[in-house]
Amino acid sequence: MMKQKILMCAPEFYEVDYVINPWMAGNIGQTTLSLAQAQWENLRQTLARFVDIVLLPPVRGVPDLVFTANAGLVLGDKAVVSRFRSPERQGEEPYNRALFEKLGFEIADWPQDVFFEGAGDALWHRGEQFLWTAYGFRSDQQAATLLQTFFGLPVVQLRLVDPRFYHMDTCLCPLTGGYVMYYPPAFAPESQQLIAAHVPEDKRIIVSEADALHFACNAVDVAGHIVLNDASPALEADLTRAGFKTIRVPLGEFLKAGGTAKCLTLKLVE
Ligand code: ARG
Repeated sequence: MMKQKILMCAPEFYEVDYVINPWMAGNIGQTTLSLAQAQWENLRQTLARFVDIVLLPPVRGVPDLVFTANAGLVLGDKAVVSRFRSPERQGEEPYNRALFEKLGFEIADWPQDVFFEGAGDALWHRGEQFLWTAYGFRSDQQAATLLQTFFGLPVVQLRLVDPRFYHMDTCLCPLTGGYVMYYPPAFAPESQQLIAAHVPEDKRIIVSEADALHFACNAVDVAGHIVLNDASPALEADLTRAGFKTIRVPLGEFLKAGGTAKCLTLKLVE
């Protein structure tokens, strides 16, 4: 098996300077750069114990570039470059495209008018080859068929309904062995049923609202470890029972922009 590779982008120019999700409200100018850098460095070092880290060079003026989950979606040697809904983030697209080109990915032709925010709203299920995607706040519903055609794999599309969980990776996380850790109320009732139809009950790890608000679902699953901002003892016990070790990496400075561990990473090799 090829060693896992994760894309990250150092928070050299990170700050909150606009509001495009509820977490950012009231946080303009409220981040402390040195603390953000220390928290990010701790995440990088934690992940580097298990995987290779690839770095996207930081760029001034696009502070959310640190959230590399939104650079695009990749599988094998194929990549879709994100098309951001908010004008504030559209400036990131050329940097993401250039990186995927440099790394040698085959890049999808993507229609100009279909929004898609990458691994923020599209996650590979572990175990079986299918893709979870979501729409409702950022990515368009039409993205699902385009992804299915480009990657040649089935897509299960879910609808997000709680603006606090505006990207799917804030409320659902597929884990090794076919487990799925998620916060059900973030999804429309018919989507909750779809999840239940695809994941046997003993593989569902249900997250409480309190844990979800600490972004417990925004986790990185590497080598049997679940790396996340925070988890209650009850959630940690559930993860332990499923065979995972929990590693907490506090990322409060990034939560002010609506992202934590998973948002700060993109798996380039699954
Ligand atoms: N401020 C960013 C935004 O609202 C945060 C993105 C977090 N990334 C994620 N994959 N959920 O777009």
